[in-house]
Amino acid sequence: MKSIQVGLLGIGTVGSGTYNVLQRNQQEIQRRAGRGIEVTMVADLDVARAQSLVGPGVAVVNDARAVIANPDIDIVVELIGGYGIAKALVLEAIEAGKHVVTANKALLAVHGTEIFAAAHRKGVMVAFEAAVAGGIPIIKALREGLTANSIQWVAGIINGTTNFILSEMRDKGLDFSVVLKEAQRLGYAEADPTFDIEGVDAAHKATLMSAIAFGIPVQFDKAYVEGITQLGAQDIQYAEQLGYRIKLLGIAKRRATGIELRVHPSLVPAKRLIANVEGAMNAVMVHGDAVGTTLYYGKGAGSEPTASAVIADLVDITRLHTADAAQRVPHLAFQPDAMSDLPVLPMSEVVTSYYLRLRVADQAGVLAKVTGILADAGISIDAVIQREADEVGGEGSTQTDVIILTHDCVESQMDAAIAQMQALPTVLAAITRIRKEELA
Ligand code: NDP
Ligand code: HSE
Repeated sequence: MKSIQVGLLGIGTVGSGTYNVLQRNQQEIQRRAGRGIEVTMVADLDVARAQSLVGPGVAVVNDARAVIANPDIDIVVELIGGYGIAKALVLEAIEAGKHVVTANKALLAVHGTEIFAAAHRKGVMVAFEAAVAGGIPIIKALREGLTANSIQWVAGIINGTTNFILSEMRDKGLDFSVVLKEAQRLGYAEADPTFDIEGVDAAHKATLMSAIAFGIPVQFDKAYVEGITQLGAQDIQYAEQLGYRIKLLGIAKRRATGIELRVHPSLVPAKRLIANVEGAMNAVMVHGDAVGTTLYYGKGAGSEPTASAVIADLVDITRLHTADAAQRVPHLAFQPDAMSDLPVLPMSEVVTSYYLRLRVADQAGVLAKVTGILADAGISIDAVIQREADEVGGEGSTQTDVIILTHDCVESQMDAAIAQMQALPTVLAAITRIRKEELA
């Protein structure tokens, strides 16, 4: 049978990995797919570099639209990134009746509804395994492997760059900016690295997982997003002393009234496997009512790990290419006419527990006032530690740190309590609040 012909749009980190792995493993991939999968055309702005990567046998152009217009191309693989030209090209490829594979989580998290609707109308597939957690087949697991379950929550380390930064800072005491540069050099970081460090990239991925887990539309605009740039080294240390690690988690959780969708640094018990996921590795926990908690671990970024997911999509599409569109797995796991209208909850309605650090005057009665405010707000305390003033501010210091771990409460309750504590004259600096997830 004739090979499936693939057109690559963009041959950078992921594009070159995709080309190389397809070449290297072509026989095994063909045995799995049932026919060959061949990159026959590539578009990239730097034609000479692209041609040197693929050799003379592959047509290289600088106009991506020439790939879409080529009637021999069956599948268009978008590996340019961003919401600009990539969106136009994906929609044009769908309109031209091509199946699309993309690793572009930003595009799908923001414009997914429009893109999936267009693909449904045209009867083509849009596959995006590489868009979440790089090489880990988490989309396949959520969409197909766990299809029997009512999924209760998904929580993951889904940004390799920030996990790499947190690990290197903790283990080697390196500076944030030094480690970020290294992540960029290794090809983990987004074209705009603020997407990584401010939590936006993780929120794109959490948004996609929430849609597949709960059958809701992709709603990136409703996600709560907080990155790692405000994290203090002392909080990483205090968390360790309390038996926790701080990880940037992407969380999607079902509640009776709606879905929590949030990305923020979280304290995770050090004894959980996920707390020990280091470097650019990713891990996603999924809790289903039937299966219980499952954990998926692997490389979340990089050239060939991400290519592994892109090629899995190519094989899936090749196998289903000739199948009736109605027989295919729905893009977002649920049939398009059976989506849920459960709302994404505002952050004020999220329920979680907290780590609080207060820099206070080292005076009698301060702790009682603080704990009194929490008690009046109906917030139950799990643990309190007061540091020695000398340890915190040096010999003779009149200031100290109070660290409080709470049980679950509603975020709006905690907002109100923090405002009251902050107004105390004995609270000397902005209160640090880090959410805590037991992931039990
Ligand atoms: P790169 O920047 O390495 O590659 C993008 C390529 O696209 C570059 O070669 C660029 O050329 C080319 N390009 C830009 N504009 C055009 C255009 N108009 N027409 C044709 N080619 C164009 O990005 P990555 O490979 O890292 O990322 C690609 C996608 O994969 C992104 O959506 C990213 O979020 C996603 N992703 C990346 C991962 C990773 O580990 N890197 C992991 C998972 C997903 P030039 O350099 O000349 O501008
Ligand atoms: N910038 C992303 C990360 C790439 O660091 O995880 C993988 O999506």
